[in-house]
Amino acid sequence: MTNKLERLPKHIGFIIDGNGRWAKERGLPRSAGHKAGCKTLSLIIKECFYTYNIPVVSIYAFSTENWNRPQKEVDYLMSLFKDYTSKDFLNEFPEVKLNIMGDESKFPDGLANSARETAVLSEKNSKYILNLGINYSGQDELVRAVNNIIRDGKKDIDRQTIEDYLYTKGQPKLDFVVRTSGEQRLSNFMLWQVAYAEMYFPTTYWPSFKKKELYNALKEFQGRNRRFGAIKE
Ligand code: IPE
Ligand code: IPE
Ligand code: MG
Repeated sequence: MTNKLERLPKHIGFIIDGNGRWAKERGLPRSAGHKAGCKTLSLIIKECFYTYNIPVVSIYAFSTENWNRPQKEVDYLMSLFKDYTSKDFLNEFPEVKLNIMGDESKFPDGLANSARETAVLSEKNSKYILNLGINYSGQDELVRAVNNIIRDGKKDIDRQTIEDYLYTKGQPKLDFVVRTSGEQRLSNFMLWQVAYAEMYFPTTYWPSFKKKELYNALKEFQGRNRRFGAIKE
């Protein structure tokens, strides 16, 4: 399937949405949707890296607004993230550097420890990067950048300065954002990085977003005419 795709993104972002509705449609609890969503996450990450050789994948897994959900659901999600970022990560995703995007100070201890440990152990991996957004907010990322720029006494701030203080420092530009479930909004995802990204909003719920859906998304990307303000036929 891949040989037909020539122009692939270097950096793809996924706003994973629809786990709850996927479960509801099946008469299952929301937790079952999140569990199924986790399986999809592994599949899609592997496809992006190892089938399509896309070097950077960004995942929006939990927003700063998601703390407003029932405690039981939040706890379940945190336990899934803890398992996800455990040492198994290194076996499941060889050559991948785990880069957590988000305020870790609010993570439960178990998650904070596993995320930190795996981030350190995978630090030297340079072939692929997984930016995992947990307790992430694009606005907070910019506030954090501004505060750190001030702390470091930087002067004559330009675009590059800002980029150097984002979680995505040094990475290829975000080319393509996919949000599943039919919602057509960013919900605070990578507000700086999204500047010239192509957007795609399939109606599929995240747990049902599989190899074929990813292929269709990438095919869609291939057909986009990216002009960047210039004139291109
Ligand atoms: C995405 O699915 C997972 C998270 C945002 C944590 P949702 O849980 O938002 O699913 P819906 O939107 O309620 O269907
Ligand atoms: C956006 O999904 C956040 C993540 C995917 C982590 P939500 O389901 O929380 O977003 P809204 O509330 O529909 O905007
Ligand atoms: Mg949702």
